[in-house]
Amino acid sequence: MERKNLGVLVSGRGSNLQCIMDACAAGKIPARVAVVISDHSDAYALERARQAGIPALAVNMRDYPDKAGYELYIVEVLQKHGVHLVCLAGYMRLVGPTLLGAFAGRIMNIHPALLPSFPGLHAQEQAWRYGVKYSGCTVHFVDDGMDTGPIIMQAVVPVYDDDTVDMLTERILEQEHRIYPEAVKLYCEDKLIVEGRRVRVRV
Ligand code: GRF
Repeated sequence: MERKNLGVLVSGRGSNLQCIMDACAAGKIPARVAVVISDHSDAYALERARQAGIPALAVNMRDYPDKAGYELYIVEVLQKHGVHLVCLAGYMRLVGPTLLGAFAGRIMNIHPALLPSFPGLHAQEQAWRYGVKYSGCTVHFVDDGMDTGPIIMQAVVPVYDDDTVDMLTERILEQEHRIYPEAVKLYCEDKLIVEGRRVRVRV
Protein backbone atom coordinates (compact mmCIF):
# COMPACT_ATOMS: atom_id res chain seq x y z
CA MET A 1 0.00 0.00 0.00
CA GLU A 2 1.24 3.45 -0.91
CA ARG A 3 2.29 5.47 2.12
CA LYS A 4 0.15 8.58 2.40
CA ASN A 5 1.34 12.09 3.15
CA LEU A 6 -0.36 13.88 6.02
CA GLY A 7 -0.56 17.62 6.51
CA VAL A 8 -1.38 18.61 10.08
CA LEU A 9 -2.87 22.00 10.96
CA VAL A 10 -2.37 23.17 14.52
CA SER A 11 -2.70 26.25 16.71
CA GLY A 12 -1.21 25.29 20.05
CA ARG A 13 0.20 22.53 22.22
CA GLY A 14 0.18 19.75 19.64
CA SER A 15 -0.29 16.65 21.79
CA ASN A 16 -2.54 15.07 19.15
CA LEU A 17 0.03 15.96 16.49
CA GLN A 18 2.64 14.18 18.62
CA CYS A 19 0.54 11.01 18.79
CA ILE A 20 0.03 11.02 15.02
CA MET A 21 3.74 11.61 14.37
CA ASP A 22 4.66 8.84 16.82
CA ALA A 23 2.21 6.38 15.27
CA CYS A 24 3.59 7.11 11.80
CA ALA A 25 7.20 6.80 12.99
CA ALA A 26 6.39 3.48 14.67
CA GLY A 27 4.89 2.17 11.44
CA LYS A 28 1.41 1.89 12.97
CA ILE A 29 -0.02 4.23 10.30
CA PRO A 30 1.03 3.73 6.65
CA ALA A 31 1.77 7.44 6.32
CA ARG A 32 4.22 10.13 7.20
CA VAL A 33 3.59 13.62 8.46
CA ALA A 34 4.83 15.65 5.49
CA VAL A 35 4.23 19.14 6.84
CA VAL A 36 2.85 20.91 9.91
CA ILE A 37 1.25 24.34 9.60
CA SER A 38 0.26 26.59 12.48
CA ASP A 39 -1.72 29.80 12.43
CA HIS A 40 0.39 30.96 15.40
CA SER A 41 4.16 31.23 15.25
CA ASP A 42 4.51 30.49 18.97
CA ALA A 43 2.60 27.19 18.89
CA TYR A 44 4.52 24.48 20.74
CA ALA A 45 3.29 22.08 18.07
CA LEU A 46 5.78 23.64 15.63
CA GLU A 47 8.60 22.82 18.01
CA ARG A 48 7.41 19.21 18.26
CA ALA A 49 7.40 18.90 14.47
CA ARG A 50 10.88 20.38 14.13
CA GLN A 51 12.20 18.03 16.79
CA ALA A 52 10.86 15.18 14.68
CA GLY A 53 12.56 16.61 11.58
CA ILE A 54 9.28 17.50 9.92
CA PRO A 55 8.87 20.75 7.94
CA ALA A 56 6.89 23.15 10.10
CA LEU A 57 5.77 26.67 9.36
CA ALA A 58 3.56 29.39 10.72
CA VAL A 59 1.11 31.11 8.40
CA ASN A 60 -0.28 34.28 9.89
CA MET A 61 -3.73 35.31 8.71
CA ARG A 62 -2.77 38.97 9.24
CA ASP A 63 -0.27 38.70 6.39
CA TYR A 64 -3.09 38.09 3.88
CA PRO A 65 -5.82 40.38 2.60
CA ASP A 66 -8.55 37.89 3.51
CA LYS A 67 -9.24 34.32 4.63
CA ALA A 68 -9.33 33.04 1.04
CA GLY A 69 -5.82 34.38 0.43
CA TYR A 70 -4.58 32.88 3.69
CA GLU A 71 -6.09 29.49 2.88
CA LEU A 72 -4.84 29.60 -0.70
CA TYR A 73 -1.31 29.81 0.60
CA ILE A 74 -1.95 26.89 2.98
CA VAL A 75 -3.35 24.86 0.07
CA GLU A 76 -0.21 25.62 -1.97
CA VAL A 77 2.03 24.41 0.86
CA LEU A 78 -0.05 21.26 1.37
CA GLN A 79 0.01 20.50 -2.35
CA LYS A 80 3.73 21.18 -2.57
CA HIS A 81 4.23 18.46 0.05
CA GLY A 82 1.94 16.05 -1.80
CA VAL A 83 -0.54 15.90 1.07
CA HIS A 84 -3.36 13.36 0.74
CA LEU A 85 -5.07 13.92 4.08
CA VAL A 86 -5.27 17.08 6.19
CA CYS A 87 -5.59 16.51 9.94
CA LEU A 88 -6.79 19.36 12.10
CA ALA A 89 -5.25 18.89 15.52
CA GLY A 90 -6.23 21.73 17.81
CA TYR A 91 -6.52 24.10 14.83
CA MET A 92 -8.67 26.88 16.21
CA ARG A 93 -10.25 28.20 13.01
CA LEU A 94 -13.22 27.28 10.91
CA VAL A 95 -12.09 25.87 7.59
CA GLY A 96 -13.25 28.08 4.74
CA PRO A 97 -14.35 27.22 1.20
CA THR A 98 -10.85 27.58 -0.30
CA LEU A 99 -9.25 24.87 1.84
CA LEU A 100 -12.39 22.75 1.91
CA GLY A 101 -12.71 22.87 -1.86
CA ALA A 102 -9.11 21.85 -2.44
CA PHE A 103 -9.31 18.90 -0.02
CA ALA A 104 -12.97 17.89 -0.23
CA GLY A 105 -13.58 14.79 1.89
CA ARG A 106 -9.92 14.74 2.87
CA ILE A 107 -9.92 16.85 6.04
CA MET A 108 -10.36 15.32 9.50
CA ASN A 109 -10.79 16.90 12.92
CA ILE A 110 -10.81 15.76 16.53
CA HIS A 111 -13.39 17.35 18.82
CA PRO A 112 -13.37 16.89 22.60
CA ALA A 113 -17.06 15.99 23.03
CA LEU A 114 -19.56 13.46 21.75
CA LEU A 115 -20.90 15.27 18.70
CA PRO A 116 -23.46 16.47 17.85
CA SER A 117 -23.48 17.56 21.51
CA PHE A 118 -21.31 20.50 22.52
CA PRO A 119 -19.78 21.70 19.26
CA GLY A 120 -17.55 24.76 19.22
CA LEU A 121 -15.16 26.10 21.81
CA HIS A 122 -14.63 24.78 25.35
CA ALA A 123 -16.54 21.58 24.65
CA GLN A 124 -15.31 19.84 27.80
CA GLU A 125 -16.52 22.71 29.96
CA GLN A 126 -19.83 22.88 28.10
CA ALA A 127 -20.40 19.19 28.86
CA TRP A 128 -19.31 19.54 32.49
CA ARG A 129 -21.61 22.53 33.04
CA TYR A 130 -24.53 20.81 31.34
CA GLY A 131 -24.18 17.95 33.79
CA VAL A 132 -23.95 15.02 31.39
CA LYS A 133 -22.80 11.73 32.93
CA TYR A 134 -20.81 10.73 29.86
CA SER A 135 -18.83 12.78 27.41
CA GLY A 136 -15.92 11.89 25.16
CA CYS A 137 -14.38 12.76 21.85
CA THR A 138 -15.18 12.51 18.16
CA VAL A 139 -13.08 12.19 15.04
CA HIS A 140 -15.02 13.45 12.03
CA PHE A 141 -14.60 14.61 8.48
CA VAL A 142 -14.78 18.36 8.11
CA ASP A 143 -17.57 20.03 6.19
CA ASP A 144 -18.61 23.67 6.03
CA GLY A 145 -20.29 23.66 9.45
CA MET A 146 -18.89 23.94 12.95
CA ASP A 147 -18.02 20.35 13.97
CA THR A 148 -20.84 18.95 11.83
CA GLY A 149 -19.16 16.60 9.35
CA PRO A 150 -19.62 12.80 9.10
CA ILE A 151 -18.49 11.01 12.25
CA ILE A 152 -15.66 8.49 11.88
CA MET A 153 -15.01 7.38 15.45
CA GLN A 154 -16.00 8.24 19.00
CA ALA A 155 -14.85 7.32 22.49
CA VAL A 156 -16.98 7.68 25.60
CA VAL A 157 -15.67 8.75 28.98
CA PRO A 158 -17.60 8.95 32.26
CA VAL A 159 -18.06 12.23 34.09
CA TYR A 160 -17.70 11.71 37.84
CA ASP A 161 -19.45 13.73 40.54
CA ASP A 162 -16.23 15.15 41.91
CA ASP A 163 -14.66 15.92 38.52
CA THR A 164 -13.31 19.35 37.79
CA VAL A 165 -13.30 20.58 34.17
CA ASP A 166 -9.55 19.91 34.12
CA MET A 167 -9.97 16.32 35.28
CA LEU A 168 -12.60 15.66 32.64
CA THR A 169 -10.47 17.37 29.98
CA GLU A 170 -7.53 15.14 30.87
CA ARG A 171 -9.66 11.97 30.74
CA ILE A 172 -11.03 12.96 27.33
CA LEU A 173 -7.55 13.83 26.02
CA GLU A 174 -6.31 10.31 26.78
CA GLN A 175 -9.02 8.97 24.50
CA GLU A 176 -8.28 11.58 21.82
CA HIS A 177 -4.74 10.30 21.71
CA ARG A 178 -6.05 6.78 21.20
CA ILE A 179 -8.75 7.31 18.57
CA TYR A 180 -7.23 10.04 16.38
CA PRO A 181 -4.29 7.92 15.19
CA GLU A 182 -6.67 4.98 14.83
CA ALA A 183 -9.01 6.95 12.56
CA VAL A 184 -6.10 8.30 10.51
CA LYS A 185 -4.80 4.75 10.15
CA LEU A 186 -8.15 3.53 8.78
CA TYR A 187 -8.20 6.39 6.28
CA CYS A 188 -4.66 5.67 5.16
CA GLU A 189 -5.54 2.00 4.69
CA ASP A 190 -8.46 3.08 2.45
CA LYS A 191 -10.86 1.47 4.89
CA LEU A 192 -13.27 4.36 5.43
CA ILE A 193 -16.41 4.34 3.32
CA VAL A 194 -18.51 7.50 3.47
CA GLU A 195 -22.19 7.14 2.62
CA GLY A 196 -23.88 10.47 3.21
CA ARG A 197 -23.50 11.18 6.89
CA ARG A 198 -22.56 7.61 7.73
CA VAL A 199 -18.98 6.42 7.74
CA ARG A 200 -18.40 2.65 7.65
CA VAL A 201 -15.22 0.72 8.14
CA ARG A 202 -14.45 -1.74 5.38
CA VAL A 203 -13.86 -5.18 6.86
C1 GRF B 1 -7.82 18.91 21.84
O1 GRF B 1 -8.61 18.81 23.00
C2 GRF B 1 -8.68 18.78 20.62
O2 GRF B 1 -9.75 17.92 20.79
C3 GRF B 1 -9.20 20.18 20.42
O3 GRF B 1 -8.11 21.00 20.77
C4 GRF B 1 -7.25 20.31 21.68
C5 GRF B 1 -5.90 20.29 21.04
O4 GRF B 1 -4.91 19.76 21.90
N1 GRF B 1 -9.67 20.34 19.07
P1 GRF B 1 -3.48 19.46 21.33
O5 GRF B 1 -2.98 20.76 20.68
O6 GRF B 1 -3.59 18.35 20.34
O7 GRF B 1 -2.64 19.09 22.51
